[in-house]
Amino acid sequence: MLSGLKNQLMALVCVTGGNGFIASWLIKRLLERGYTVRATVRDPGNLRKIAHLQNLPHASERLELVKADLLNEGSFDTAVEGCEGVFHVASPVNFVPDNPEEDLIIPAIEGTLNVLNACAKSNCLKRVVLTSSMAAVSTQTLAKSGFIVDESCWSDPDYCKERNRWYALSKLLAEQRAWEFAKEKGLDLVVLNPGFIAGRPLQDSLDVATEEVLNFLTGQDSLTKDSAFAWVGVKDVVEAHILALEVPMASGRYICAEQVMDAPTLLQVLQKIIPGHAVPPKYVANPLPPATLYKVSTEKLKKLGLTLGPIEDALKETVDYLLGKGLLPKEIQT
Ligand SMILES: NC(=O)c1ccc[n+]([C@@H]2O[C@H](COP(=O)([O-])OP(=O)(O)OC[C@H]3O[C@@H](n4cnc5c(N)ncnc54)[C@H](OP(=O)(O)O)[C@@H]3O)[C@@H](O)[C@H]2O)c1
Repeated sequence: MLSGLKNQLMALVCVTGGNGFIASWLIKRLLERGYTVRATVRDPGNLRKIAHLQNLPHASERLELVKADLLNEGSFDTAVEGCEGVFHVASPVNFVPDNPEEDLIIPAIEGTLNVLNACAKSNCLKRVVLTSSMAAVSTQTLAKSGFIVDESCWSDPDYCKERNRWYALSKLLAEQRAWEFAKEKGLDLVVLNPGFIAGRPLQDSLDVATEEVLNFLTGQDSLTKDSAFAWVGVKDVVEAHILALEVPMASGRYICAEQVMDAPTLLQVLQKIIPGHAVPPKYVANPLPPATLYKVSTEKLKKLGLTLGPIEDALKETVDYLLGKGLLPKEIQT
């Protein structure tokens, strides 16, 4: 169906939430591959949020920024018009919302439906790629030691509610609605389910995943201190998105994460990366608790054509970024 698209230089694709961590890398790669990109942002006039996109190679010739908001019905119609592919990446990422419904669940679901509605109106769109999450796959403790999580797994909404995992609930409900809508309207939808993403941010603000590494290293409250998560590098996530668009046989969900780390394992990996290998003082006094380590299947992703790289490389890019910004305190650097 999409055969030929990958050789079709200048094919027009849309990326929602263009200024975010993943989307910025995705836009960079798409421009490098010859695509013409229309990216949506909430405020194209906010230079702090968009300068890094305007400075990407080929941006001046092949990147257009369009204003759109997940909560405004019809907001994505113009952005999607004329596109052969749409990457719906935008969604609020916030692990501690003040108001879970308003801050996360409504924008995630309504936003997805707004984007998909725009897609359903198009007469030239070939495929939509949705960025869901491992949070929609395996939030509850499927985690008997050694359990293998694959694409048939779904997070349990009751578990998410009981544990205040509102972000996970927003991703779960948005993905479920997307599948229902795509079936109803006959849209070709492919979904990516990335784990916790490491790598160097391109944007001029801390995304939640990078902030999570910072919080973990400085002993602040962080999700990663309590549970085991599957991790993946941002460049691999971006390659997976592009394959999901370009490979004609791509279908269904794709888990995009491999290395499952609990807090002690994450700490060990980070200590190897940080010059001086110092243990954050807080964790010397209070050692981090181990969590049950499950496994994650990347067989389906491999069949799509992607083998994930070592997470150490991506985490090193996160740490180098934090060091470069002067965000890591002296005591954990030496
Ligand atoms: N990072 C991870 O570890 C990870 C893992 C799995 C899945 N994901 C998924 O990947 C996607 C991107 O995440 P990210 O890490 O790149 O986060 P991010 O940097 O925070 O990007 C989120 C994007 O969504 C946009 N957005 C939020 N609310 C919006 C609204 N009401 N209208 C329009 N745009 C809105 C943000 O725009 P503003 O800048 O204007 O707020 C931003 O562009 C999300 O769908 C997330 O759930 C992320």
